[in-house]
Amino acid sequence: MAVDLTKYVASIPDFPEKGIIFRDLSPLMADGTAYKQATDQIVQFARDKNVEMIVGPEARGFIVGCPVAYELGVGFSPARKKGKLPRETVKASYQLEYGTAELYLHRDAVKPGQRVLVADDLLATGGTISATIDLVKQLGGVVVGCAFIIELDALKGRDRIKDYDVLSLMHY
Ligand code: PRP
Ligand code: HPA
Repeated sequence: MAVDLTKYVASIPDFPEKGIIFRDLSPLMADGTAYKQATDQIVQFARDKNVEMIVGPEARGFIVGCPVAYELGVGFSPARKKGKLPRETVKASYQLEYGTAELYLHRDAVKPGQRVLVADDLLATGGTISATIDLVKQLGGVVVGCAFIIELDALKGRDRIKDYDVLSLMHY
């Protein structure tokens, strides 16, 4: 029997600032049944697309992407924040509320032509996932889909990735 994943999302008013309702996925990840169900749904999406590699952005993209990679028997490459990767990298910048941030991938993280799923816990403005897609493309990878557990519809992140097939397990 499938569980209702919305029951495993904690909604926290006024975090991190007044007026924001923060959708916290840690209860879902702490529950074996809910975490497995969410993972299995993304695995199915990836299987249908013959995904060969998963790329997820630091930090919560690792929690979503790694079990999917494990289940499929494919690799996972972490897109990391500044100063974390020790070897030669490619870089993509993205917009934060104040200023910009950067994400990096090792140059050999994705092979040219590889079919890649980008995965993260949550799609908000789409800045993080757009930067992740940019990195994969710089390495010649083919982004065949984007998967999220939650999409915040009002922030319109989907408009920034409209060229891609997107799976979001829940919408707020
Ligand atoms: C959060 C979330 C997504 C991103 C979504 O990560 O896990 O990666 O924001 O927002 P966006 O669509 O507006 O880019 P955060 O930057 O807080 O990093 P963390 O996972 O390291 O906490
Ligand atoms: N929850 C978790 N991460 C986020 C959110 C949220 O509501 N908004 C932007 N990143």
